[in-house]
This record gives sequence, C-alpha cells and structure tokens, in this order.
Amino acid sequence: MHAYMTPSAGTPLPVQDAHGRWLNSLRISVTDRCNLRCRYCMPEEDYVWLPRGSILHFEEIARLVQVFTTLGVTKVRLTGGEPLLRHDLPTLVTQLKANHRIRDLAITTNGVMLARHAAALKAAGLDRVTVSLDTLQPDRFKRFSGRARFTDVIEGIEAVRAAGFRRTKVNAVIVRGFNEDELVDLLEFGRERRLEVRFIEYMDVGGATQWSPADVVPRAEILERLDAHYGGTTPLPDPSDGRAPAERFALPNATTFGIIASTTRPFCGMCGRARLTADGMWFMCLYADRGVDLRDLLRSGASDDEIAAKLGAAWQKRTDRGAEDRLTSADRGPLYQLDRLRQDPHREMHTRGG
Ligand code: GTP
Ligand code: 5AD
Ligand code: SF4
Repeated sequence: MHAYMTPSAGTPLPVQDAHGRWLNSLRISVTDRCNLRCRYCMPEEDYVWLPRGSILHFEEIARLVQVFTTLGVTKVRLTGGEPLLRHDLPTLVTQLKANHRIRDLAITTNGVMLARHAAALKAAGLDRVTVSLDTLQPDRFKRFSGRARFTDVIEGIEAVRAAGFRRTKVNAVIVRGFNEDELVDLLEFGRERRLEVRFIEYMDVGGATQWSPADVVPRAEILERLDAHYGGTTPLPDPSDGRAPAERFALPNATTFGIIASTTRPFCGMCGRARLTADGMWFMCLYADRGVDLRDLLRSGASDDEIAAKLGAAWQKRTDRGAEDRLTSADRGPLYQLDRLRQDPHREMHTRGG
C-alpha cells in the first residue's frame, strides 16, 4: 500500500482501507446525552458523561468535516445521544451545508423534540431525517424507553412532513417479546405517511448490556412474518452496492421497507463509515475498542494538511470488521458489561452515534 499523500488544497483524494473499502460516510455524534432510556441502548438512569470542556465546538466539527471531505466523505449524518439536545443545532447544519462536497446531510433522532425544530432544520438546509420509533403503543413506549414521550414523537414525525422533508425514514429495533408483534402495524403506519420503515436487528453493541441471542428477531423471521401477512416480499436492487446498512424490499402493494441485519448478516464488506464522538474521538468501526483523538490534534494547532495526513494514514491501516467478528465469537453475549462501559464511556453506543 502507498503512503497516504496529503490532498493539495481543494483537491479531494479518496482513501481506501486495508480491505479496499473507501472512506465515504461520517456519522457525527453531537452530544452523548439523551432524553430517553431505551433498553437496547441506554438502560441505566445515569452515566459517566463526557466532560463539557471536551465537547467540540461547531467550528471545530465543521473544520474536521471539511478535512474528511477531502478524503472522500460525501455522506454526513448527525447523531447522538439525541442530537436535538445539542443547543442551536441548525447553526451546525448551516455551517456543514456550506461544504459542497457533502451530498447528503441527514440526522438520526428519537423525534421527541422534532416538532419544535423540524422547520429550522429544513431552513438550515438539512436534507433528510430518520426517526427512531420502535412501537406504536404508548404504554409500551413508556416501558421500553422509560419516558412517556410517545405523543411527542408522533407530533415530531408530522412536523417533519409539514416542514417539507422527503425520503424520511423510521428505524425500529425489533426485540423478542417486546415488539415483534408490531411489524405490520409499523409498516402500515409508514405506508399511510409515506415513510420508509426499517427493521433493525438488536445488536450486542455498546450499552446493550441486557442483550442475549434469544432476544434477536432475525432478518429471516421478519421476512417470514411479513410474507405470511402480505403474501410476498420482493428484494429491491441496492443502488449503494452493499455500502448501505439496509436491504430494501417491496410488498405486493408496492410499499417498500428495509431490514438492517447487523447481527445475523453483517455488512462490513463494503463499510466506509467512520464515527466522530462529541469530544472528537474518531472511531473506524461501531465495534472498535480504540479511537483516534482528533480533539487533541485540532487544539494543538495542527494544519488541515497535517490532520488529513493523519486521517488518511490511519484509514489505510483499517482492518475492522466488527460485526462479522462478533458473528464468529463463541458464547455470544453483550460486548461489554457495565464496569467496562463506565471505565470508558466512548464504548457506549450513545457516545459513538449508533
Ligand atoms: P441511510 O443513509 O438513510 O441509509 O442511513 P443509515 O441507515 O446509514 O443510518 P441510520 O442512522 O438510520 O442507521 C440505522 C441503523 O443501522 C443504526 O441505528 C445502527 O443500528 C445500524 N448501523 C448503522 N451503521 C452501522 C454500522 O456501521 N455497522 C453496523 N453493524 N450497524 C450499523
Ligand atoms: N441494536 C440495534 N440498534 C441500536 N440502536 C441503538 N442501540 C442499538 C442496538 N443495541 C439504534 C437505534 C437508533 C440508532 C441511533 O441506533 O435504534 O435508530
Ligand atoms: Fe463497518 Fe464495523 Fe459496522 Fe462492520 S461493524 S459495518 S466494519 S462499522
């Protein structure tokens, strides 16, 4: 492999990792805080939070993103924790939209605060919204997320449509004994509102300390249940050539939906996703134990070229295939127990951005 050359100002220089995967997508967690406590992600009431002074300012995020886009990143997604808890998020959206190499700027949110913010996000130039919603039953919602905010989420989804967003998606993590009986209801909810619903297999990652293989509803079972109800599901072609986590399908009534089979059918082969935490740690895999400290680099006065050289060299060495490795691990249980998460909150899913 060649040593990474620094892109000269303004000239993108895409970079491949050790398995030939191009760096193309950056997920930015803008805060580690969340206003829900979903049991697959943040089952505890309290956490070791990132220190306030360590959180990157918008200008710092925008500068790092600028450098990332000189290495081939064209997709940027804002995540959390709950990204809308970050004060003044539309200002960051405006700053990122000034970067014309970003072709797709999206957010993944739990929807609780969307009704208040959807119009401002649209005005700032955000391209797309994905809302997490695992159940349509208010009492279940409260039991599963620890908060009675179901109605807020539904109003948030309505506000997204009213603000003029298109291609909005709904993510539902399917957990055995909790919501596998709602596959059809969730699809119908999406169909009526022109939202694409994606069913996500429960993963053993980060804060999912209560995970067990028996709680996973596999892709195959999701398809069987939908086949039985609708009389068929047809796989749709994948325009991303395997880079997108979701496989898409159509029902006989032409409704489309997705399945993200991270647990039983991982998609590491084409993965070009990187993750930036709110305090500037760069992770090259959802499952990676270690990240690269970009905050230190930024705050020590490194130039854009120096940062690009460091990012490029690190990506070229990347060998991560975290979800595939988990597939072959013996006696599969949760990746971490609480003590290891408390030692380093960067291991949490809510810190590294889902
Ligand atoms: P689109 O651009 O709309 O396709 O977004 P996306 O599907 O990449 O983003 P979203 O935040 O909606 O991700 C959906 C879910 O897929 C996440 O919540 C995770 O559960 C899972 N996921 C996303 N990225 C990865 C990844 O790199 N590895 C694994 N194993 N799972 C991922
Ligand atoms: N398994 C699957 N998906 C998860 N998410 C968080 N934790 C898990 C997990 N253990 C997803 C949420 C949300 C996104 C931010 O991350 O559903 O859509
Ligand atoms: Fe990419 Fe790691 Fe997710 Fe696999 S587990 S798809 S390598 S981020």
